Amino acid sequence: MNARAKRRILVTGGAGFIGSNFVHHWCKEYPDDRMVVLDALTYAGNYQNIAALEARENFRFVKGDICDRLLIDQLLAEEDINTVAHFAAESHVDRSILGPDAFIRTNVVGTFTLLEGFRAHWNARGRQEGVGAASRRHRFLHVSTDEVYGSLSAEDPAFTETTPYAPNSPYSASKAGSDHLARAYYHTYNLPTIITNCSNNYGAYHFPEKLIPLMCINILLGKPLPVYGDGQNVRDWLFVGDHCRALDVVINKGIPGETYNIGGNNEAKNIDLVNKLCELMNELAPDLPVRPAQKLITFVKDRPGHDRRYAINATKIKEELGWTPAQTLEGGLRTTIEWYLKNRDWWQPLLSEEYQNYYNQVYG
Ligand code: NAD
Ligand code: DAU
Repeated sequence: MNARAKRRILVTGGAGFIGSNFVHHWCKEYPDDRMVVLDALTYAGNYQNIAALEARENFRFVKGDICDRLLIDQLLAEEDINTVAHFAAESHVDRSILGPDAFIRTNVVGTFTLLEGFRAHWNARGRQEGVGAASRRHRFLHVSTDEVYGSLSAEDPAFTETTPYAPNSPYSASKAGSDHLARAYYHTYNLPTIITNCSNNYGAYHFPEKLIPLMCINILLGKPLPVYGDGQNVRDWLFVGDHCRALDVVINKGIPGETYNIGGNNEAKNIDLVNKLCELMNELAPDLPVRPAQKLITFVKDRPGHDRRYAINATKIKEELGWTPAQTLEGGLRTTIEWYLKNRDWWQPLLSEEYQNYYNQVYG
């Protein structure tokens, strides 16, 4: 019998894309752990992503804001939380260009509020059970992004954990600020924080504004496929299931104070990725309004400050924690497309008036 101590885990942003995939992963792997999801249900949060878990005894969903210190203190104490997995954020670069305020509030002030709440709670537990025991039992996982490292040229080596920070968008600058706070709380207070910086995720429950779901949905609707600039920008695609396995390993085996880069080993130019999506859609979707879907590809005005290339060197997590990504890009894209084909009821309501207003602002 495995003597693993039960975790009482608070997942912030657990109704969003990666957060909800992580919540499903954790509930499946560790059904005896207590799972508390805190999410403000912004435009990007969707209760339906986790509704199926509500029936579980060990599960609780709370609608609330990570900037609300009273709520944070109350939840940490009454649920006796020993592990925080912090996903809650404003996450879309184009929205950060249109309006950075919410990014500073949630990503910087929200992370600060959560760290302060967790520090007070951990101190209180340390007084009761001894500082050493509290430190062994408690973890604060701060989920961040490779975008904090800035932009690479085609020849540059991939980002490592020691690459200097050089964020270029209000989104990545706000994430960089939150990373610095998580790091400082370890160095100053010994709070057992761990930071992960990962590349572009894709998979089920991905909100329509992001490249892969946007292209899949527009192909199904026969709408133009807007490729920014010359389409030569490169991203390193990480299947969300692989990411969740990596975060599991980091929570259970990672060292406090450390940073781990997580990548998919799947670099692709945007235009090649969009062509691949068209090819797969032509094969998998029977009733496309426009066929072949490649006819819909349209080059549009570039994103301001558009980073040219991201690439992750994930050697550290492989060598120290034994994690590697399992999914190929082709396999992951097939699985993702099949999910979007089967789950029209999930994505159709998300194309709301608010979403159309946003879409018109970005794409004209
Ligand atoms: P998402 O936008 O899909 O979900 C964010 C979630 O946070 C939503 O459910 C939203 O309702 C919630 N939220 C927002 N503001 C909140 C607040 N003030 N209080 C409580 N909840 C709030 O984001 P995602 O793509 O799932 O990203 C999750 C995390 O991973 C983010 O921190 C993001 O920076 C990071 N990340 C994402 C990617 C990616 O490719 N999607 C890659 C690297 C890092
Ligand atoms: O690298 C990790 C980051 O990946 C995360 O931190 C962010 O939260 C996440 O949104 C993602 O950021 P990107 O800006 O890389 O993802 P996005 O899906 O918005 O765009 C991917 C690439 O596709 C990027 O080069 C811009 C381009 N693009 C995007 C959209 C939405 C287009 O060409 N057309 C589009 O319509």
